[in-house]
Amino acid sequence: MNPMPGMDSLIVNFDRALRTLCARATSVRPQPGGGLDETRLDEHDRRNAVALMRVNHAGEICAQALYHGQSVTARNQVVRRALEHAAEQETEHLAWTAQRIDELGGRVSQLNPLLYAGSFTIGAFSGLLGDKWNLGFLAETEKQVEGHLDDHLGRLPDDDHKSRAIVAQMKADEAEHARTALAHGGAGLPAPVRHAMRAASRLMTNSTYWL
Ligand SMILES: [Fe+2]
Ligand SMILES: [Fe+2]
Repeated sequence: MNPMPGMDSLIVNFDRALRTLCARATSVRPQPGGGLDETRLDEHDRRNAVALMRVNHAGEICAQALYHGQSVTARNQVVRRALEHAAEQETEHLAWTAQRIDELGGRVSQLNPLLYAGSFTIGAFSGLLGDKWNLGFLAETEKQVEGHLDDHLGRLPDDDHKSRAIVAQMKADEAEHARTALAHGGAGLPAPVRHAMRAASRLMTNSTYWL
């Protein structure tokens, strides 16, 4: 397969980007915690929950863009199919977080188009490096996301059971995505790369909490 994107691929990917950023994502699985009663949060807790779910939604925009970028350049069909399942779950995460932000009366991040563009580029570049590094990068990303969702479980209001149910399910899914990437031959990344990824994700989470 030609790793260089042709005109068809450009159009497909432009369409995917617009859908991710502008259309409402759908989910096959029901929203975790969907059957729970809404708890009345005070204004401080509500704003904090919105901000944390906005960070998570922005993270899922990045996940979409990474997977889309990789699919442009990754060559191994077996790997691509294995990652499709993970990519479908990322779309569900996007749907759940968007829905929860709506329920809490908040808004998604204004930085999403920028984050999509940056993550798509990183994903495409990572796909060019070959499966071992591409999958290694994916596994490390998922591990870091899992850690940051764990941190959010400690920071979300105790009473916000609906947001907590979503984050807990996402955390379990991300751990599974990391395992899938490693099982298909993902390599451990050098420490400087892991640190750089941590720094980039800190920048993303700190800015989308507010913007
Ligand atoms: Fe996700
Ligand atoms: Fe994931």
